Amino acid sequence: MDSAPRNPVTAVIVVAAGSGQRLGYGMPKAKVPLGGDTILTHALRGVAAAGIAQQICVAIPPGDQELLALCDDFAQALKAEHPGTPGTGGAGQPPIVTIVDGGATRAESVRAALAALLPATEAVLVHDAARALTPEAVFHRVSHALAAGALAVIPAIPVVDTVKTVEPTTGDGAAIAPELVTGTAARETLRAVQTPQGFDLATLRRAHEAAASFDDGQAAAVTDDAMLVELLGVPVHAVRGASQSLKITTPLDLIIAEGLLEGPLGVRWVEG
Ligand code: CTP
Ligand code: MG
Repeated sequence: MDSAPRNPVTAVIVVAAGSGQRLGYGMPKAKVPLGGDTILTHALRGVAAAGIAQQICVAIPPGDQELLALCDDFAQALKAEHPGTPGTGGAGQPPIVTIVDGGATRAESVRAALAALLPATEAVLVHDAARALTPEAVFHRVSHALAAGALAVIPAIPVVDTVKTVEPTTGDGAAIAPELVTGTAARETLRAVQTPQGFDLATLRRAHEAAASFDDGQAAAVTDDAMLVELLGVPVHAVRGASQSLKITTPLDLIIAEGLLEGPLGVRWVEG
């Protein structure tokens, strides 16, 4: 039997439906300017440049006409660049771009996008629009692991800080400091996790179906898709991420992202 790796039919979900509270621009983060474009434009370009997707499915804030138009323009530009038939997956064929209304939480936005994938889809990468500068190499590492048989794969980087656990100080100690250290994590085993996270589609669908019945507390604790797959007991593999794949969350992150774009190397060409 032929066991050579085979590229599964792949969709990339880009979740861009968040409100960007911590960035504080008073507009959805996807629309915030970065290097003369928007955060979402950079994210979509990165996905397209990686060339791994037959479909790109973008979740945007419901009813946001500006982001709808931005995604439409992006789809038209892809078609103009690649004159082939969208979604067929051959060399030079552009991906189909699908736009869905996101939900109230990131997980709901992912679920909305999962419901809109083409029937032939076998594998899916879920990517945060907020990680607008993810290098192509990271997409490739994730999709190679899927082709090699992983059901779940995440990009991750070593943690540079020492990480401790704490609890609120009680009794007399409260006058000294608000928290008391309860332990120090073994740093060499810790990883900071990024996106795109890649999955066998059936596995991710099963994980999200299980999560749909979570109560509010459980739902709030879900910060990535791999966590849901871990709860199913499915092994999650980790490949190397990239530091320039930072999630633009606070104003400081935006300054760093601007700096990366202005830097002499040009972020897209720096190997992660
Ligand atoms: N996201 C989404 N739908 C939501 C919430 C978040 O699609 N209901 C997306 C964001 O657009 C972002 C990614 O999930 O690309 C990671 O979320 P985060 O960085 O927290 O973005 P926001 O939720 O927009 O920011 P904040 O939490 O500061 O409001
Ligand atoms: Mg958020």
